[in-house]
Amino acid sequence: MPAVRIEGGAEYACAEDDTLLRAGLRAGLGFPYECNAGSCGTCKVELLAGAISSLRPDAPGLAERDRAKNRVLACQARPTADCAIKVRLRPENVPVHRPARFLATLAGWRDLTHDMR
Ligand code: FES
Repeated sequence: MPAVRIEGGAEYACAEDDTLLRAGLRAGLGFPYECNAGSCGTCKVELLAGAISSLRPDAPGLAERDRAKNRVLACQARPTADCAIKVRLRPENVPVHRPARFLATLAGWRDLTHDMR
C-alpha cells in the first residue's frame, strides 16, 4: 500500500484503489475539496515525488498550467508508488465523520430524473 507524505507534516497510507483525497480524509486530515469529481479544482496538490494515475486525465478542474507545475487533482489521483505532496490542509475540512468503506447489497433502484437513478 503506497505511503503518502505531506511536505512538513503527516504521512498516511493510500490503498491502490483509493485516491489521495479519500485516503487523506479517512486518515482524518483536512484536505480542501468540493466536488470530488474532477470539476472544481479545489483539491489540487503538488506532486513532489512518486507517481500517480489519474482517474480522469481530461478533468476540467486542472488547467494545462497546473499540469506543467506537476499539480494533480487529489480526488482523481491514485498513487502507483510512495508519494510526497504539497497541500495546505484546512482545520475546517477535518472530517467530523471520516469516510469509511462498507459492504452493501443493491436491493433495487428507481429513476429519480433523466440522469439520476
Ligand atoms: S474536489 Fe473538485 S476537482 Fe477535486
